[in-house]
Amino acid sequence: NADAVPQAPEDALFGLMAAFRRDEDPKKVDLGIGAYRDNNAKPWVLPVVKRADEILRKDPNLNHEYLPIAGLPDFISASQKLILGADSPALKEKRITSLQTISGTGAVHLGALFLSKFYNPTTERKVYFSDPTWPNHFQIFSNVGLSSQTYPYFSKQTKGLDFEGMIGSLQNAAEGSIVVLHACAHNPTGVDPTQEQWKEIAKVIREKKHFPFFDTAYQGFASGDLAKDGWAIRYFIEQGFETCIAQSYAKNFGLYGERAGCFHFITSPSSDAESTVSRVASQLAILQRSEISNPPAYGARIASLVLNDKELFAEWEANLRTMSGRIIDMRKALRSKLEEMDTPGKWNHITEQIGMFSFTGLTEEQVLKLREDSHVYMTKNGRISMAGLNTNNIEYFAKAVDSAVRG
Ligand code: LMR
Repeated sequence: NADAVPQAPEDALFGLMAAFRRDEDPKKVDLGIGAYRDNNAKPWVLPVVKRADEILRKDPNLNHEYLPIAGLPDFISASQKLILGADSPALKEKRITSLQTISGTGAVHLGALFLSKFYNPTTERKVYFSDPTWPNHFQIFSNVGLSSQTYPYFSKQTKGLDFEGMIGSLQNAAEGSIVVLHACAHNPTGVDPTQEQWKEIAKVIREKKHFPFFDTAYQGFASGDLAKDGWAIRYFIEQGFETCIAQSYAKNFGLYGERAGCFHFITSPSSDAESTVSRVASQLAILQRSEISNPPAYGARIASLVLNDKELFAEWEANLRTMSGRIIDMRKALRSKLEEMDTPGKWNHITEQIGMFSFTGLTEEQVLKLREDSHVYMTKNGRISMAGLNTNNIEYFAKAVDSAVRG
């Protein structure tokens, strides 16, 4: 009976969000969860999303019927083009099958579940995550019975990529391991491989017959350029890898609570590719049906409207540049304030890291001191969501960091 159920710890990130809400100090600063905030620390409904929403609400044919099991067809095809590029060989050769999912989490889960059932099921499989990674990766894969290990990723010395460590670990991993890769704007570190490094990573993955699994939650957020942010995935596809992609629209459309996302499975070029994809699609449909029956419609309708309309798409790109541009400004401001104060340590990584997060290098002790003394909320690993900073609180935050670092 349920008496034996042990107490589980609270989710660290959502627990932090709740603690921030409880804090009544007017100076409090939320640098916890990765959700964009405007310069007034308020959630930002993208203007293009507002427009799409108005269009949708005026549609006399809008109803609340079920979507197909795989989801909204126009949304799915637009999602494929967005991540792979409209002229992708995988699209031309019909080597891809995709399903709409409960945002990126649902896509990672569907992929993990599929692999747990069909990827070398009789052998002992290992999943490799970057150290560190999005903590939910561990739970999602262990829930489907796949055990995980990490490959070195973040160098504490340089606060950049530990490239040698990463390559060495992938070389030593058992052949055929599943390797989870962040396509861009790595969470939590904000550190991405260069294009040359990606080529080396692809080489090792090829040599060791590993299975690359891409998680992409920040396309358009890293550089503000959608194609550039999709480069690593597109490179792997050009190289003919079999791979899968978990794609989230939470951040780049600001559709956090609408749970719009997509899962893609792409098989290698072969004479049998179309038939492989059709068999994979049939199995994914069963998994999807048994878990969620069919995905939620509203967020996907909004994204689909924007993705399939030239003018709205251009407006979306401008909105993305607003978000990524403000974050870059905050990186510059934070670094220069810390350097001006001669805060002990080096702060160049603040502007060198990209995307939503910065891995500051602050210790857990300093993080807790910041929370207690200054009402600044960030995860214990020293990650800050850059979007929580703005022209009103950056000075306060920089001074708080300075005094926490000086002890
Ligand atoms: C984050 O890492 O802050 C976001 O991806 C939110 C989440 O679901 O963890």
